Amino acid sequence: MSRPQHFGWFFARGFGPQGWGHPYWEWGWDWRTPKLYQQSVRELEQAGLDLVIIEDAISLGTDETLDVRVGQAYGGPKHDPLMLVPYLLDATEHIGFAPTVNAGATPPYLGARQFSTLQHLSGGRVGINLVTDVKSARHFGLEELAHDAAYDRAEEWTDVARRLWRSWGDGALIGDRATNTFADASKLERFRHQGSYFDVAGPLNAVPHGDLGDPVLVSPGGSGPGLAFAGRNSDIQLALAPLNVDAVAAYRAKIHEAAIAQGRRPSDVKVLFVFKPEIVGSADEADRIVRASYSPDEETLRAVLAAQSSDLETDLTKLDLDAPLDPAIFGQHVSQGTIRGLLGGRDSFEGVPLRELAATKARKGRITDGTGLVGTAEEVADFIERFGEEADNDGFIFSGDLHPVSIHRMLDELVPILRRRGILRTSYAPGGLRANLRDF
Ligand SMILES: Cc1cc2nc3c(=O)[nH]c(=O)nc-3n(C[C@H](O)[C@H](O)[C@H](O)COP(=O)(O)O)c2cc1C
Repeated sequence: MSRPQHFGWFFARGFGPQGWGHPYWEWGWDWRTPKLYQQSVRELEQAGLDLVIIEDAISLGTDETLDVRVGQAYGGPKHDPLMLVPYLLDATEHIGFAPTVNAGATPPYLGARQFSTLQHLSGGRVGINLVTDVKSARHFGLEELAHDAAYDRAEEWTDVARRLWRSWGDGALIGDRATNTFADASKLERFRHQGSYFDVAGPLNAVPHGDLGDPVLVSPGGSGPGLAFAGRNSDIQLALAPLNVDAVAAYRAKIHEAAIAQGRRPSDVKVLFVFKPEIVGSADEADRIVRASYSPDEETLRAVLAAQSSDLETDLTKLDLDAPLDPAIFGQHVSQGTIRGLLGGRDSFEGVPLRELAATKARKGRITDGTGLVGTAEEVADFIERFGEEADNDGFIFSGDLHPVSIHRMLDELVPILRRRGILRTSYAPGGLRANLRDF
């Protein structure tokens, strides 16, 4: 038997019009009703995934680039993922849900109360994907913080939320009908936190979640402060890294080092890598798809640029494909990491026609030789298994929209193979999301 791994689904691009721009839009699921999402998460639970992480951005970005965000629904609209979670919990029994929370937008008392409530109602199946994006500050009348300061704020947010969750001390909840005593108020911690970012009084007024523990904390940041945050606080690191054994092992080592530096055990943080394989019927078909991707047609290049325009908040779709890109086109707000992604390993944009940048982005590779993620289900299972064996990998987070067609396309063939090999769970542990993460 191979090393068992944990799997999740990153509900990428958030809670918006699922399937827009894809043929499966014509399947007729209505993205405005809960049924689409409920059907999807039932499938994911049947498949044995531990959790669904729901991406979110609370802003449509700058006024000048609204069209590139909403024109093809790449970057919006997005509804509030927290509001979706009760519907998903109601449709399932075991799988966990971690909606995104921005530490700059949700005050910690409110967040602690909302998640305490969901933890209470769900038997411990919720988590928080805590993010540090600062671009939405203007919607809240706040100053935009610098990158590292946003992590300081997230640390403080987490400390306050945890103190609130624990503000009902041991033995505070009595529930004795004979004496008509529900709780012992003397065991509740009255406190005033006055920090750099938050001024919060406790205790929390929501019912404590006892044996279930705090909601699971997920973090996605990959910078130095991001990794330090994960080492100190997280149960899951949502990791983005090149998927080769050395890079995965190195990323895991950094998280483990950060955990140990904070007096935690490496096994306290599950490192799950974002993974979007393209699963096809045969090795021949995979080879054909890869070959074809090396000569993309104009329509493919335009589609690549439309998606990039949304991520870069810069309209690339109207530029001359045969002229080099002037990097001055990017505003100060555009992340350097996203710009590096467009460079595709090049040092600069100088002398490189936009067509070539888009063509590099469109290029695919075979999962069997490490050049890409196209492969048969057996090949993808081999790939997953190898990371478990050679990098002691904790698991992967599949990425896609939350639509039954996307889920079946990715998982139909893969799930039975992973189960036969003992890599994917066949049942859930009692006790909620944290218990499942600690199952192995
Ligand atoms: C895989 C992944 C998922 C992310 N999901 C979100 C998200 O849903 N919402 C958000 O505002 N930021 C998201 N982020 C951005 C991070 O919260 C963070 O702001 C960004 O990665 C910059 O931090 P870093 O320099 O530490 O990586 C995500 C980042 C990664 C790598």
